[in-house]
Formats: sequence, structure tokens, C-alpha cells
Amino acid sequence: MSGQDNKGTAVITGASAGIGAVYADRLAGQGYDLVLVARRADRLEELAEKLRYAYKREVSVIAADLADDNDLRRVEQLIAADDSVTLLVNNAGIGGQQVVATADADEAERMIKVNVIALTRLTRAVLPGLLARNRGAIVNIASVLAYETSFGGIYSGTKAYVVNFTEGLHREVAGTNVKVQAVLPGATRTDFWELAGSDIDNLPKEIIMSADDMVDAALVGLARGEAVTVPALVDASKLDTFLGARQAFYGSLHADKPAARYAA
Ligand SMILES: NC(=O)c1ccc[n+]([C@@H]2O[C@H](COP(=O)([O-])OP(=O)(O)OC[C@H]3O[C@@H](n4cnc5c(N)ncnc54)[C@H](OP(=O)(O)O)[C@@H]3O)[C@@H](O)[C@H]2O)c1
Repeated sequence: MSGQDNKGTAVITGASAGIGAVYADRLAGQGYDLVLVARRADRLEELAEKLRYAYKREVSVIAADLADDNDLRRVEQLIAADDSVTLLVNNAGIGGQQVVATADADEAERMIKVNVIALTRLTRAVLPGLLARNRGAIVNIASVLAYETSFGGIYSGTKAYVVNFTEGLHREVAGTNVKVQAVLPGATRTDFWELAGSDIDNLPKEIIMSADDMVDAALVGLARGEAVTVPALVDASKLDTFLGARQAFYGSLHADKPAARYAA
């Protein structure tokens, strides 16, 4: 990989469309070489060619289904062995499956594999190298639905995992130069909605963000070292209040006896 301005290589999963494709554009623009991962090789190649031409960066492509154990391990091995990797954007994700009773169990499993297992294993693959080189970042794309279950528990549950995993990792790397960020997009205009069987235009226009704006804001949050970035949140103090209340709440969750209301 070339590295004339020493940014290193950004690995972006789910780079064939939507938010991941915007990350690819922005990070190439910032001077990163890229490794683009998704299933649709033709779309990855097309984007890679465009970015090589526009930004004169090295862009390689890994066609892989992150729900497939063999493909996932292949990606892990490739990125763990690449010392130029300085940034991992775990963006690939699947939505839908709102009602558990009628959910397709195999589709639900695929969602958990892509949204949770792949994100975890790919993080585990690059983290030792980042720590050894004491530089770089991991960006995990969660969702505001991490904090809301009214659209069903499966997708929301996967994204709650992403937030907790990332917050824990943020603590784990404290004191190093490795940054860790969870990004919580709200409704963002991509193919995601149609693929999940929903029409984004049923939502009020005022709550739909473009993928361009979402990624640009998330990158500002990353540069500031934020653990949790919520691009749509106007009043940042609400996040601090929420997280502070959660921490205070945790302080009251242990005792040597059950609370009086549970007396048999
Ligand atoms: N759009 C929103 O409103 C919204 C809101 C909150 C959070 N998010 C999160 O943002 C992330 C990106 O979503 P998006 O809106 O950009 O959706 P998108 O346009 O549907 O893009 C999803 C990307 O993930 C890749 N992907 C899906 N399944 C994969 C698999 N099995 N293996 C490898 N790659 C796979 C897709 O590529 P291939 O199909 O080529 O494999 C595609 O590049 C997701 O994690 C999503 O949960 C989106």
C-alpha cells in the first residue's frame, strides 16, 4: 500500500452502497488507501476504480459474505496480516425482521452474524495490530435504534450490542492512541430501507438525513475522539445526561438482599 502522507489503509465493510460508499469516498479524500469489503464485487470494483482515479489512492476489493464463516475468516486473516491498516469501519449491516413470531429465523441469524459477529471478529482481527503500532481507529456503525425497541427487538438488539461493545472497547483502549467510536445514525436515505421491506418516504422529510451528511458529521465526531456520535442529536447535553443517568442507575443495581417489593 502506498502511504505518502502516512494515513495508512482504511478497511470499510459494506462499501458497495449507502453509508459505506460515502465513507470510502471521504476517507480516500483524506488520504487513506482503502480495502473495500462487501458481497457485490462488481459494485466494489466500480467504486474502487472511481476512487483510484479521483484521489490517486490504492484501493483494493474483497468480495465476501460476512455472514459466511469461511468468508469472514478470510477477511479477518487478510486485514490482520496487513500492517498498513490504521482504520476499520464496521459498517456492513442488515435491517428488518421486526416481528419475532413471524421472523425468518435464518434471516435473523444472518442479521446477527453480519451486525454482531462479523463486527466483533473483524475488530478482534485488527485491534492487536493497532495497539502494537499505537495508532488508528475502529468505527462501528450502530443505530439510534440501539436505544429504542418499538421497531422490534432483533435489529435493535444487534445495535445495542454494537453500542455496548464499542463503549467497552473505548474504555479498553483508553490511554493509547487508538480511537474507538460508535456512530448512531437515525433515518438515513440509503437502500437499507427498501431491503428491510420499508419505505423511508413514509417518514417525515425533516427526520431523514442524507448519507453524505451523516458520514461527514460522524467523521467530525471521530476527529474529536467521541466514543458515541449521534449525528442528528441537536442538544449534545442530552446524551451526556442519558449516559450519566445510566451510570448512576447502575450504581443502585447491586445489593445483598432483594428489594422490599420482591418480598415473598
Ligand atoms: N440507512 C439507515 O437509515 C440506517 C440507520 C441506522 C443505522 N444504519 C446502519 O448503517 C449501516 C450501513 O447501512 P446503509 O444504510 O448504508 O445500508 P445499505 O445501503 O443497505 O448498505 C449496506 C451495506 O452492507 C453490505 N452488506 C450487507 N450484507 C452483507 C453481507 N452479508 N456481507 C457483506 N456485506 C454485506 C452491503 O453490500 P452487499 O449487498 O454488496 O454485500 C452494503 O454495502 C448498517 O450497519 C445499518 O444498520 C443505517
